[in-house]
Amino acid sequence: MTDVLTSDERCDRSALDEVERAALALECDGRLGLTRGFIQHGTVSVYEHVRSVARASSAIASALERAGVRVDRASLIRGALLHDYFLYDWHDADPSHRLHGFTHPSCALTRAEEDFELTERERNIIARHMFPLVPVPPTCREAWIVCMADKWCALYETVAARLPGKGASVSASRHVRTRMGVEADSMTGE
Ligand SMILES: [Fe+2]
Ligand SMILES: [Fe+2]
Repeated sequence: MTDVLTSDERCDRSALDEVERAALALECDGRLGLTRGFIQHGTVSVYEHVRSVARASSAIASALERAGVRVDRASLIRGALLHDYFLYDWHDADPSHRLHGFTHPSCALTRAEEDFELTERERNIIARHMFPLVPVPPTCREAWIVCMADKWCALYETVAARLPGKGASVSASRHVRTRMGVEADSMTGE
């Protein structure tokens, strides 16, 4: 697994981009760090997955903003980072995880509300990100963005990353950012 911040990066939040700053804050103020220890898809941790979704969501938002569409970027990034904040390993043979695909959005919302004050958009992002499997659609554009970014990253992590010569989740968000015309991040190299 990758993406552990160096001590220098932890000390200098101003040098981090919006995704890294938000992830660091959620890790310091809550339990986002636990997600580093849970696998999401293949060898990709939940932490890597939600960072990829946040980066892909940011790229989509940038493209929309260039077209004159307003996006609440703070809620978008925080919601993306918290959308899978269920804080357990869904691969464990625990009967309560059998319906994980359907139940984890509400579990993630409950856990997130235990740790953070959430905006209405952030709640919508977390609760509705599994549409259409959970057949209640998002009701704000930020939640639609994360819903789409999550599908792309999940697909990439489960299928494309297994192909010879392909990387892990970081490449999923890089691919979206490339398509959206967003430059690579100088600090993370993504
Ligand atoms: Fe999810
Ligand atoms: Fe997800």
